Amino acid sequence: MIVSNWKMNGTKADIELWINEVSNKIEYKTEVNCVICPPSCYLDSTRSFITKINSPVQLGSQEIDSTHQGALTGGINGQMLNDFSTEFVLIGHSEQRHYLNEDGVSLRAKLDSAIDSGISVIFCIGEPSEVYSNGDTKNFLTNQLDILNSEDLANITIAYEPIWAIGTGLSAKTTYIEDIHGFIKNHLKKIVNNKKVSVVYGGSVKLNNAEEILSSDSVDGLLIGGASLDSETFSKIYNLS
Ligand code: PGA
Repeated sequence: MIVSNWKMNGTKADIELWINEVSNKIEYKTEVNCVICPPSCYLDSTRSFITKINSPVQLGSQEIDSTHQGALTGGINGQMLNDFSTEFVLIGHSEQRHYLNEDGVSLRAKLDSAIDSGISVIFCIGEPSEVYSNGDTKNFLTNQLDILNSEDLANITIAYEPIWAIGTGLSAKTTYIEDIHGFIKNHLKKIVNNKKVSVVYGGSVKLNNAEEILSSDSVDGLLIGGASLDSETFSKIYNLS
């Protein structure tokens, strides 16, 4: 899975151009999902751009709220996401954990909302720099993974995104990514009866480091922010997978 996370960037016209160009440039393989997560206000039009040209690009939301119905000003629920056939949703991104104060309780409610709505979850985890420097990453990630249960894991991809690597240009080294992905997979195996859980990497993935990161057997794909906004770069990275 190669995912483009647009965060709070772009216009409707930018997204249409991106969908058209990426659809032309990628050598699409059915076993490698190609996903765009546009800002929520463009989800509906993004679905239309995809449908219009019968593009293999799949649609992901950056947001889902935990309540199914009712009074939450600004909220977006699973039913709304299903209205435009949203296939994936990002939950637990470090920017939302930080700026929106998301914690285990609110994330658990979002997971329930997505799973009940039949939307596949990309669950983001990752440690801040002080935890990394203290060598405490694995304990930290174990806590973040603790809210998942075996039922969730049938519908979940984990995105490992060290916070110190997001948007900084400092991607983690491949040996470190391998160690952490191996740890996550082994940890989750115990919860899901030895079934395989996919783990993708995110954090300053660029054209010049993507090939090396993807060459590792423990890396099942990439979640890309800044570098993915350029359709040419994103397509080249997809074609390396
Ligand atoms: P980045 O962002 O590629 O710009 O570091 C990744 C992410 O936050 O998903």
